[in-house]
Amino acid sequence: MRFTDKVAIVTGGASGIGLAVAKRLAHEGARIVLADYNQQNLDDATSQVKAAGAPDVLASLCNVAIEAQVEATVASALDKFGRLDVVVNNAGLMQFKPLEELTGDDWLRILNVDLLGAFYFTKQAFLHMKPGGAIVNVASIHAIETSPLVAPYAAAKAAMLSLTRSSSLEGKPKGIRTNAVLPGAIDTPMLWDNPNVKSGVEVIDKNDVGKPEDVAAIVAYLASDDAAFVQGAEVRVDGGRLNRL
Ligand code: NAI
Repeated sequence: MRFTDKVAIVTGGASGIGLAVAKRLAHEGARIVLADYNQQNLDDATSQVKAAGAPDVLASLCNVAIEAQVEATVASALDKFGRLDVVVNNAGLMQFKPLEELTGDDWLRILNVDLLGAFYFTKQAFLHMKPGGAIVNVASIHAIETSPLVAPYAAAKAAMLSLTRSSSLEGKPKGIRTNAVLPGAIDTPMLWDNPNVKSGVEVIDKNDVGKPEDVAAIVAYLASDDAAFVQGAEVRVDGGRLNRL
């Protein structure tokens, strides 16, 4: 039980990888704050996280792209639980458009969620976490290699690795660790809704598809004291897909 007495916020915790992370941390004793902007999925996820063993769950309706909502989520977590130990920056979305059709607003929509959302929670973590705290950023293999039509997403995920480096450097004197995971193809709604996958532009071998629980296991490790000397790491969880030409 690596997270007994600890409090973890999981953004995008109402679906897919975020839900698997929340259930894994709950199973290991954490009190969980699910921060998501999908109320319907939040209700269902709350029951699932309780069933996974969470001593308590706070469902917080939060758009991570809006700093005031992030502040409110952290304030209600501190109000209810009195501490904050883990933040998992997982909320994310993709958009599919050729570069010549993308607008500045398209870019800002993706960057506001996939990059600034993680920044806003990092800022709150730095303001409120005690030494021993941990932040885990859910990036993507798109931070390293990418496919056509997802330029803002790939850029946001690459920048998230840069944020991980900055956060690990500035967090170290505070006793806060920041690390990133880079999932490959993971069996969630986001993967199968992907127009590149549907159209065959991006071909995914079924042996290269992982489970949300595969990512959750690494996130839990990085968030735990087992990783006490792991700082600023970028851990690929892609079944080796990125190594193949
Ligand atoms: P998902 O679509 O199943 O879940 C994403 C969750 O984030 C949803 O519950 C959604 O409501 C929430 N969300 C989206 N925008 C939000 C916002 N502005 N504020 C609050 N919540 C918001 O997707 P999945 O696959 O679980 O993705 C989770 C993370 O993993 C994302 O950051 C994604 O980029 C990353 N990832 C996923 C991969 C995959 O193959 N599924 C591969 C690589 C990275």
